[in-house]
Amino acid sequence: MGNPYVIRVVSKKGGVGKTVVAINLAIALASFGKKVLLDDGDVANASASIHIGLRDSFYSSEEVLYSEQSVSKSVYRYDPGSIDILPGTGYYSLRAPPTEEQIASLGRQLSSADYDFVVVDTSPGFFMPHIAKYYKEALIVSTMDEPAIRSNMGLAKLYGGISVKTNMALNRVTKIDDRAVKDIEREFGKGVIGILPEDPVVPRSIDMHTPAFLLSGGSKFSMAIKELALRYLSA
Ligand SMILES: Nc1ncnc2c1ncn2[C@@H]1O[C@H](COP(=O)(O)OP(=O)(O)O)[C@@H](O)[C@H]1O
Ligand SMILES: [Mg+2]
Repeated sequence: MGNPYVIRVVSKKGGVGKTVVAINLAIALASFGKKVLLDDGDVANASASIHIGLRDSFYSSEEVLYSEQSVSKSVYRYDPGSIDILPGTGYYSLRAPPTEEQIASLGRQLSSADYDFVVVDTSPGFFMPHIAKYYKEALIVSTMDEPAIRSNMGLAKLYGGISVKTNMALNRVTKIDDRAVKDIEREFGKGVIGILPEDPVVPRSIDMHTPAFLLSGGSKFSMAIKELALRYLSA
């Protein structure tokens, strides 16, 4: 039984880059020799599989949630990125939402799976206190615009209220405005763990179904993701 470092990649606001960060962080961690599982936990719009061009996978988190199939039997090996992925299906559109217990059961499995890291992509706005004990930290991804920051500071407070460790990564940063970053850090209560630039390689990587870290390892975005991974490796 493993004791992976489970990172839930979250944001109260959609479209900030959670999926892009989750996939590329998972692959960057694997590039340093870590055993990594990426769980597509975006129940409304499972999209991690689309980003890597996986159309039909035999199993997904749906089997784990509804049929109690084991995580290890449901993962797909994504060789180019040297990671395992538990694909999502966007089951909310197909059937009744899973019960709290079904979600907790998946959380239990992930928290004891045989990996160094489990990176979980999530739906915007989802805050599930009952599974907090199954992850080690919530990584809040936010863009630097006022609506995203306001909404994600609110999310940070919710996590703080249930004593969950949080980190914040800023994404789609066009130019580093030190004062704006300092203001965010002051309100958040600690330094941001990553500053990820706006980079045309990202939309291109999605079009090409090849994560940016693999498509262009030397791009600004990939270098920043690598630094983010190193923060986790040195923690
Ligand atoms: N660093 C970045 N540079 C350029 N475009 C980005 C970056 N991060 C995300 N995007 C774009 O933003 C959009 C939303 O990203 P996505 O990861 O799907 O967000 P979320 O999962 O939070 O909804 C994508 O179309 C992607 O191309
Ligand atoms: Mg997403």
